[in-house]
Amino acid sequence: SLTAEDKALVKTIWGKLNGKADAIGAEALERMLIVYPTTKAYFAHWPDISPGSESVRSHGKTIMAAVADAVGKIDNLVDGLSDLSELHATKLRIDPSNFEILSLSLVMSLAREFQSDFTPEVHTAMSKFFEAVSTALTDKYK
Ligand code: HEM
Repeated sequence: SLTAEDKALVKTIWGKLNGKADAIGAEALERMLIVYPTTKAYFAHWPDISPGSESVRSHGKTIMAAVADAVGKIDNLVDGLSDLSELHATKLRIDPSNFEILSLSLVMSLAREFQSDFTPEVHTAMSKFFEAVSTALTDKYK
C-alpha cells in the first residue's frame, strides 16, 4: 500500500501539473481507446470518440478532476470514491479490469509529460496510487 513517501510524491507530481492536467487526461483517454480497443464499447454513445474530439477532451478533463479529488482523499480512498464506485458499478457497468487499463494509460501520459522527473520512485508512487484508486472504485461491485 501507499507509504508516506509515496503519498508525498503523488502530491508533489500533482502540484507540478500546472494547467496541463486536462491535456494529460485527454491523452490518457486516447491511449486507452486506441491501445485497448475493447474499451471503446463503453463510449459508443459519444458523437465522436476519435483523438482530439470534443467528447474525448471534455472527458479527459472530467477524469483528471476526479483524480485530483482522489489525491486530496488519498488517506481514505474507499470512502472518498464511494459515489464514483457506485456509478461505475451499477449505472455504467464498467468491467473493473478496465480500471487497470486506464491507470496504465494515465501513468504513460504522466511519464511522457514529466520525462526525466518521472523517476522510478515517482513511477512506483503513481502506480500504487492508481492501484489504490482502482481498488476503491471496485468497492461497490458485488
Ligand atoms: C464517467 C471518473 C475509469 C467509463 C465518469 C465520471 C467520472 C469518472 C468523474 C463522470 C461521472 C458523472 O458524470 O457524475 C473515472 C476515474 C476512473 C474511471 C477517476 C479511473 C481512474 C473508467 C474506466 C471506464 C470508464 C476504466 C471504461 C473503460 C466511464 C463512462 C462514463 C464515465 C462510460 C460516462 C461517460 C459519458 O457518458 O460521457 N468516470 N472513471 N471510467 N466513466 Fe469513468
